[in-house]
Amino acid sequence: MNHNWFEDPILMIPGPTELHPRVKEVLTGRFYPHYGPEWREQYSGIEEAVKKIFKTKNETIIMPGPGCLGLELGVVSVANRGEKIVALTNGFFGDRFAEIASYCGTEVVILDSPPGFVVSPETLRESLDNHPDATALICVQNESAAGVLNPIQSYTKIAKKRGLFTVVDSISSFGGAELDVDGWSIDVCVGYPNKCLSGIPGALPVSISDEVWERVERGIVRPSSWITNLRVWRWYRRNWAASGHPYPTTVNTYSYLALKAAAEVALEEGLEKRYERHKRMAAAFRAAVKKMGLELISKNEEYASPTITAAALPPSLHGKIDQIVGNMFEEFRIMISRGIAATEKTAIRVGHMGLTASPRYLVPTLTALSETFRSLGYQTCSTGEAVESFYEALRQG
Ligand SMILES: Cc1ncc(COP(=O)(O)O)c(C=O)c1O
Repeated sequence: MNHNWFEDPILMIPGPTELHPRVKEVLTGRFYPHYGPEWREQYSGIEEAVKKIFKTKNETIIMPGPGCLGLELGVVSVANRGEKIVALTNGFFGDRFAEIASYCGTEVVILDSPPGFVVSPETLRESLDNHPDATALICVQNESAAGVLNPIQSYTKIAKKRGLFTVVDSISSFGGAELDVDGWSIDVCVGYPNKCLSGIPGALPVSISDEVWERVERGIVRPSSWITNLRVWRWYRRNWAASGHPYPTTVNTYSYLALKAAAEVALEEGLEKRYERHKRMAAAFRAAVKKMGLELISKNEEYASPTITAAALPPSLHGKIDQIVGNMFEEFRIMISRGIAATEKTAIRVGHMGLTASPRYLVPTLTALSETFRSLGYQTCSTGEAVESFYEALRQG
């Protein structure tokens, strides 16, 4: 441990990220119970703010819980047990989504591509030709394992043309990459605040199209669950919203207020400006990482994620992932992630999301990374050159 450091570590993992100061302010403020006139006042505006980020007029709920709860709600709201779902995957989180659908009892047809590549729209079209009985398409917008932003607008267009319902995991892109729920015809979209919004986990925004609400309410789709059942949610929204309780259970009100603050910060910056900032920072970070001799997991710059970079280590550093992540943390107080699943020992992942999509965080991260590699006997350029390539890319962008 480097005892010169006393500061808290900087979170450069692919979420949670550094908290926005306005989020921190909320967390030191008053604690509210989850109902009552005062809370109703505090709650008002949360749904409207996240709807703007989703770009939707759809009725949107804020669930208490982890991101995957929203994915589960999406699945059980569009398909009954035994019905067929097509799941697109190009990494760990796409696989996870397919697994959720399988646990929910649907018949899952997996359409995958190797990590770093995207499933081509043509492949999706062919698969849907072979599965005309499919009910829904599920996919991840930003595959956090590979640092790939999937072209979901092409996928949803194809799926909707054939009358399928669409469920999209936008957990690691919500507020950091373009999203247009209404324009792209997404029936159920799941965002999350602890990544690109620089908020905390716990309050989960899920937008749901009228058609999906209706099918569950009319019993065409019958979830065998309670907390992920839209029938239950509608009942509480109709009957308890007036008393400030538009959800079925107790919720952590801090997480809801943190979501509101984080969403407002994003809207004040302006969504388009924010997306552009994430793109520019990500491109500059990728340029520097490549200068250091690492290879991006994302094989096509066009689909490289604006919020997460995943990079393969050179062979000489294979087997040294613990030292790399450990040294970054102990010597530089910067937390990055290792790869996940197949790339666990051979790749690193860095989040540049919300607050951390900025030179203020990315330059120290590059410096620490370069110095860490150097300490392990690997160096293709000086630390100064790595940083210079970051700024050079920013100047060009
Ligand atoms: C794309 C994506 N989907 C799903 C999840 C899972 O979210 P949670 O752990 O909140 O359930 C993550 C978490 O990193 C993610 O990046």
